[in-house]
Amino acid sequence: METMGNLRRTHYVGALRAQDAGTEMTVAGSIAKCRDKGGVIFADLRDTTGLLQLIFDDSTAKDVFEKASHLKTEYVVMAKGVLREREAKTDKIPTGEVELFVTELRVLSEAQTTPFEIRDEINVNDQLRLKYRYLDLRRPSMHEPIVMRSKIGKVIRDYYEENHFYEIETPMLIKSTPEGARDYLVPSRVQQGRFYALPQSPQLYKQILMLSGFDRYFQIVRCFRDEDLRADRQPEFTQVDMEMSFVTEDDVMTMNEGLVKRVFREVLGVDVQTPFLRMPYREAMNRFGSDKPDMRFGLELCDVTEAVKDSTFVVFQSAVQARGSVRALVAKGMADKLTRKEIDKLVEVAKTYGAKGLAYTRWTSEACSSSFEKFLTEEEKQALYAAAGMEQGDVLLIAADASWEKACTVLGAVRLAIGEKFELIDKDAFAFLWVTDFPLFEYDEENGRYVAKHHPFTMPKDEDLDRLESDPANCRAKAYDMVLNGCEVGGGSIRINDPALQSRMFAALGFTPERAEESFGFLTEAYRYGAPPHGGMAFGFDRLVMLMLKRDSIRDVIAFPKVQNAGEPMTGCPERVDEKQLDELAIAVCLPQNGEQTPEA
Ligand code: AMO
Ligand code: AMP
Repeated sequence: METMGNLRRTHYVGALRAQDAGTEMTVAGSIAKCRDKGGVIFADLRDTTGLLQLIFDDSTAKDVFEKASHLKTEYVVMAKGVLREREAKTDKIPTGEVELFVTELRVLSEAQTTPFEIRDEINVNDQLRLKYRYLDLRRPSMHEPIVMRSKIGKVIRDYYEENHFYEIETPMLIKSTPEGARDYLVPSRVQQGRFYALPQSPQLYKQILMLSGFDRYFQIVRCFRDEDLRADRQPEFTQVDMEMSFVTEDDVMTMNEGLVKRVFREVLGVDVQTPFLRMPYREAMNRFGSDKPDMRFGLELCDVTEAVKDSTFVVFQSAVQARGSVRALVAKGMADKLTRKEIDKLVEVAKTYGAKGLAYTRWTSEACSSSFEKFLTEEEKQALYAAAGMEQGDVLLIAADASWEKACTVLGAVRLAIGEKFELIDKDAFAFLWVTDFPLFEYDEENGRYVAKHHPFTMPKDEDLDRLESDPANCRAKAYDMVLNGCEVGGGSIRINDPALQSRMFAALGFTPERAEESFGFLTEAYRYGAPPHGGMAFGFDRLVMLMLKRDSIRDVIAFPKVQNAGEPMTGCPERVDEKQLDELAIAVCLPQNGEQTPEA
């Protein structure tokens, strides 16, 4: 192995073109590919910006040629030479017009054969890729999102900076407070038996910053939530977090639409139309069966409760009697595609969303058959079809439930499944909207109480202030989510800034005054020293990057993501620790009898 000696990189390779021919330069990177054509050696050098062909031939100095003949893939090299136009140009790579005629070559690090090839068109097991994450990240399709993420972050910082926001860091070791997801806890050594929590978001600190007079704050910040992983969820993730003083819901939404417009233009060259559509939660649920509707396709739901209210079919009747909802979705002209087998799959989808079943009518050119054939009279069926707008050639799908929300959600899931399966979704589109007017509370069946739909600091709508105690189910919040292609990319709210109202809110959430004081006393006290009205939101940065780059998994845009069991396969964390470390923390580990071995990452 050699050292760099006096060689220093002069150029990254990715942008080299024909007009650079004739330039003497030094490049540095890894060998992506090597071909010895007897007398001529071609080696592709890869750096973080792209690939460049190095060439060694009969006019290359002997010692350099000899060294080149030993090159293997993933060797780390520096090469000095003169850029020249290629004889055989290619448009397969952006630098395909040029090659570097090498006069000096240094092999800085040799490489063993890698466990998988470093190129895009390979099929490798995920576990292996994650164990050798540093090799996977060398592959262009894995490398690029990380680079783009950095660029997106820069544009975000520029935008907020220009709009009078300060970037302020907030602590990572904080107080564990109730509400929200499960906390990650960190034991204190100095105060044994006490714990910090890692922040689920900087929510309280950013509000306190408004009370500290900073007026506008933002931060690109790591957040931690001990919840189950999904394709768009990680236990540690990054938020673009922001807060502003003296604003309404509209002001926060407009400011952040501006951010999205700017980022899409500067990073992707895509012109996003603003203002975004704004749709109240109720409408989103009614029409799309989701509080994050995918607006890239139609297939809207409708309400047929009225049309079936007198039917004797027990499924419909029990929903009607429970003041629930019977909702329908008409798949126009899809009777031939949506076969019985396909419909059965949709029934399964409905069931995973808690439905007891999914009723349907399939009306092809030959026949019209329903799952409720015997239960509805001919007139009732006709009335139902008319109400839903069902005609020959269509499939009608119906969800009935005692809960309006459940009936909507079930059909919303069915809608998405049809959209995916039959490719109704324009994958190139970026469909944004704001969902507004969320309920303030949601009922937590498990604990038998109301919990905050957003968080306990969210301001109720002015017109609902009077019914906080009397009718919590129908209180709405000054809260909004930004939705992109059916994914919640961000959300926020206007905050309560009145200590008396905040106390009412805690009471409505079932806190005793003592418990509210113990958990959030510092906040309510802070409100008593003058609190500007304020509000804000947080984007899921990973999700935003994932959607911008059209990736399917949030893992693809995170350099070192966690896997399903919340472990990180490269380092193998989480790991057991020394007894001594535990002793210092006064912690004893008591695994259940059969829990000796937790699954390894
Ligand atoms: P919220 O909890 O809605 O709001 O989070 C804001 C956004 O963060 C993203 N997100 C996640 N991304 C990846 N993995 C996760 N586990 C995860 N959880 C959330 C989502 C979400 O829209 N403090 C408030 C914001 C505010 O009110 O200003 C908050 O954290 O895209
Ligand atoms: P059953 O009487 O259970 O055979 O149900 C008759 C039809 O009603 C079947 O197609 C079921 O899938 C359907 N069904 C059952 N429960 C529901 C529901 N909650 N909503 C819509 N359809 C349902």
